[in-house]
Amino acid sequence: MLIIDGKKVSLDLKNELKESVDNYKAQTGKVPGLTVIIVGKDPASQVYVRNKAKTCKEIGMISMVIEMPADTTEEHLLNTIKDLNNDPAVHGILVQQPLPKQIDEFAVTLAIDPSKDVDGFHPENLGRLVMGHLDKCFVSCTPYGILELLGRYNIETKGKHCVVVGRSNIVGKPMANLMLQKLEATNCTVTICHSATKNIPFYTQQADILIAAIGKAGFITADMVKPGAVVIDVGINRIEDASTKNGYRLVGDVDYEGVSAVASAMTPVPGGVGPMTIAMLLKNTLQSFQRTNGL
Ligand code: GUN
Repeated sequence: MLIIDGKKVSLDLKNELKESVDNYKAQTGKVPGLTVIIVGKDPASQVYVRNKAKTCKEIGMISMVIEMPADTTEEHLLNTIKDLNNDPAVHGILVQQPLPKQIDEFAVTLAIDPSKDVDGFHPENLGRLVMGHLDKCFVSCTPYGILELLGRYNIETKGKHCVVVGRSNIVGKPMANLMLQKLEATNCTVTICHSATKNIPFYTQQADILIAAIGKAGFITADMVKPGAVVIDVGINRIEDASTKNGYRLVGDVDYEGVSAVASAMTPVPGGVGPMTIAMLLKNTLQSFQRTNGL
């Protein structure tokens, strides 16, 4: 079985991005800038934001993190976004989710200038993706990272049956729509399963490419997978494990041990889809910089 190594691909990609950033800096004197806003102190979000800022600096981009207290008003957040929309040094704006209850996430998504929406959450970007205008939008980072992995591993996709389990706006919906497009690493027949789907194994057993984005540890078991399928695991679930330092470990939505005996290729957790997400965020930020500077 082929292990699809997202850690390695993300390192390659970050090196490529660094080279581009260095070249543009020499050419124009400018560098791409990413601003991340975090509201409150959710521990998982703090880790994600720290990693985003660190990787951003590693590849030579300007990183700004705006930390706001948990009781921040929606109005204050929207005003801050407005200022960032008008700041020419800011090429990417990302508001870390989840947000506190008093703030409407959709209002925040709508407030971000689509040309700086490196998360790809704005309806204009998602709509362009659905219509196949990938060169004129931002694709949300996790699905984009999966596309990159399929491409770099030369996974055959044309005419294959791709089953996406999960229908979130961040992963399931953009993922399914991407796989439907007539592109090199896509062009699939697509089925989407979700929490109300009756008999999920009936569908997953027919998948040539199975993408699991459910959020439940070990949900996809070997009996649900067609022999030879390519299995992409988007899940990052904490399960208790007294033998580790933190008392927990991370597992995916796929029962790795069981499914690896059936699949032809698979992404591990950790080290599969996860590391690709930040790399694609920086790729989107570079793309925003290129578009605004006509590069
Ligand atoms: N929370 C978890 N994943 C993400 C992401 O990709 N973007 C944002 N903005 N928030 C998140």
